[in-house]
Amino acid sequence: MSKILVLGSCGQIGTELVLALRSKYGNETVVAADLKEDCPLILQNGPYIQLDALQREHVRNYIIEHQIKEVYLLAALLSATAEKNPDFAWKLNMEGLFTILDLAKEGYLNKIFWPSSIAVFGPTTPADQTPQHTVMEPTTVYGISKQAGERWCEYYHNKFGVDVRSIRYPGLISYKSLPGGGTTDYAVDIFYKAKASGNFTCFLGPDTMLPMMFMDDAIRGTIELMEAPADQIKVRSAYNLAGCSFSPSELASEIQALQPDFKIAYEPDFRQEIADSWPNSIDDSAAQKDWGWKAKFDTKAMVQVMLENVK
Ligand code: SER
Repeated sequence: MSKILVLGSCGQIGTELVLALRSKYGNETVVAADLKEDCPLILQNGPYIQLDALQREHVRNYIIEHQIKEVYLLAALLSATAEKNPDFAWKLNMEGLFTILDLAKEGYLNKIFWPSSIAVFGPTTPADQTPQHTVMEPTTVYGISKQAGERWCEYYHNKFGVDVRSIRYPGLISYKSLPGGGTTDYAVDIFYKAKASGNFTCFLGPDTMLPMMFMDDAIRGTIELMEAPADQIKVRSAYNLAGCSFSPSELASEIQALQPDFKIAYEPDFRQEIADSWPNSIDDSAAQKDWGWKAKFDTKAMVQVMLENVK
């Protein structure tokens, strides 16, 4: 098995992805990399290196010297943080991608995974069962960077034969690692507050429907996409993937079904506008047809696992 590098391995997706890849391909095969100097405890079962995705030469040298053949590039600023620092968000979200795409174009890498997001859609996109191919006019810095990134991925595939694969992740819900800086983060925080105090104040209004997914599904989908034969991958921008869709009030009701004294209040902030520009639900029939994707966790099952595992 050739070596795999996960850049941005200390983030919400990176942490669980490294663990899943290591249990599948062996601990020594999967190198975790992140800005942090010290490897977090949870990733200490395999190799770790401090790498800044923006240090192009450093990243290039590491990948070439260590004969890395597959990269998962997860280092990015998410939607809410990106609005506060647009210049840096654009720089981070785009420059790291070019470094990796160019390495693949030059023949150093066999395969790349780069995450896209439901943020590529905007207020003019059909909001219900949003199709794979549709109007895409994102209004956030994050969404613009993801949409541009998708175009570049497809371009590098078409022009240079780069084997790049991507998913438009919905909001991801997990208990092993925390999200940071996203508009969908409330759907993780709510479980910590439910366990700690039984009260939660939501930064989105009660009826704000958004596409979401339990992390186990997201990790399985990512690995399935990467393992699918190349000729089955018909979409080289990024695949729509659906898990479960819900609003804050619906999520609160599911929590109350298991924890009847749980209370929720609403104080929408600037993230409401971001959420309002995104779809309510996603049509993922292209991923189902091309490489057999199917979500396993609905909202009820996800809520149960979260309440059992959040400390
Ligand atoms: N979860 C992300 C965010 O809220 C969307 O990809 O920014």
